[in-house]
Amino acid sequence: MSVKSKENLPWVEKYRPASLDQVHGQTEVVTTIRKFMQEGRIPHLLFYGPPGTGKTSTIVALAREIYGNSYRNMVLELNASDDRGIDVVRDQIKNFASTMQIFNRGFKLIILDEADAMTNVAQNALRRVIEKYTKNTRFCILANYAHKLNPALLSRCTRFRFSPLEEKAIKECVDNVVEKEQLKISEEAVAALLKLSEGDMRRALNVLQACAAAVDKGDEISIDMVYDCVGAPRPAVIQRVLESIMQDDWRTAFDTLKKAKQNEGLALVDLLHGFVEILAKYELKPKTRIEILDKFGEIEYAISRGGNDKIQSTACIGVIKSALENEDAVEV
Ligand SMILES: Nc1ncnc2c1ncn2[C@@H]1O[C@H](COP(=O)(O)OP(=O)(O)OP(=O)(O)O)[C@@H](O)[C@H]1O
Ligand SMILES: [Mg+2]
Repeated sequence: MSVKSKENLPWVEKYRPASLDQVHGQTEVVTTIRKFMQEGRIPHLLFYGPPGTGKTSTIVALAREIYGNSYRNMVLELNASDDRGIDVVRDQIKNFASTMQIFNRGFKLIILDEADAMTNVAQNALRRVIEKYTKNTRFCILANYAHKLNPALLSRCTRFRFSPLEEKAIKECVDNVVEKEQLKISEEAVAALLKLSEGDMRRALNVLQACAAAVDKGDEISIDMVYDCVGAPRPAVIQRVLESIMQDDWRTAFDTLKKAKQNEGLALVDLLHGFVEILAKYELKPKTRIEILDKFGEIEYAISRGGNDKIQSTACIGVIKSALENEDAVEV
């Protein structure tokens, strides 16, 4: 792809790893796969794990290293936007897998992205196909959840779990993009970005790009901007509400909570999530902690079932107030 046409791509595509070296984190997976490749003994593969952790990137990078310019002839990519019924499995895969190669360049590769979205019938059909063409084809099955795949299919593949990426790995990529795109971003903003990404590199890059689009060229990306782009509540706001609940009288606490919801556009669940995180940093008696978390769980469930917002808000204040009554909360 030319440099010019790459300019307009979303950063997740622009900075998609071009080789296995550029896959960050996932070192064990990459090392093992590299070994398979060097020995020329690649088994059928299954990559599974949460979104944005490098499954598609890794197999595409591997295929590029193996096939180079003949990638197009040797690799078939099927993903979720395609029709995933039984016909696809029978026809498209069979056609590709059974065509003979003019020059014998080893096996062909079929990448089945988002395979957990395939119907069970299609998965069943697939296991026969895999067996039939093992002589000249390798399959790489990608999925978020291994348990949604047919066990017979699983047993034909060597499994690799892609874990949520460590902040260190995400930072390596973020730093690279910051440098290439000549961005200015504060250190605390990077730290917030890494935390909010929760191990998902795609999310990190998308949020970074959204922030970069929001600042004037040359200005620094701030921590508030990162929170805004993610739509996550700022810790300072949550902290203020929590403190008010702990220290102020009932009416003031309720008003503070209401204002936070109105002014910051927060939902009660956002506040609950925030409270849990902040309270994790407090030193509490185990009994108090259990009591709060247990009740929070009930409130969250009630909200998800469409519980009345005002009642759940007051319940939330009540839980914290009553649990902390005999407790001197100390921040660690
Ligand atoms: N380990 C990684 N190293 C470098 N970049 C990564 C990594 N993981 C993800 N990325 C970046 O995030 C983008 C999305 O990654 P990818 O498509 O590989 O995720 P995935 O695991 O296949 O997710 P999904 O389950 O949603 O399909 C890539 O384009 C790449 O820019
Ligand atoms: Mg993918």
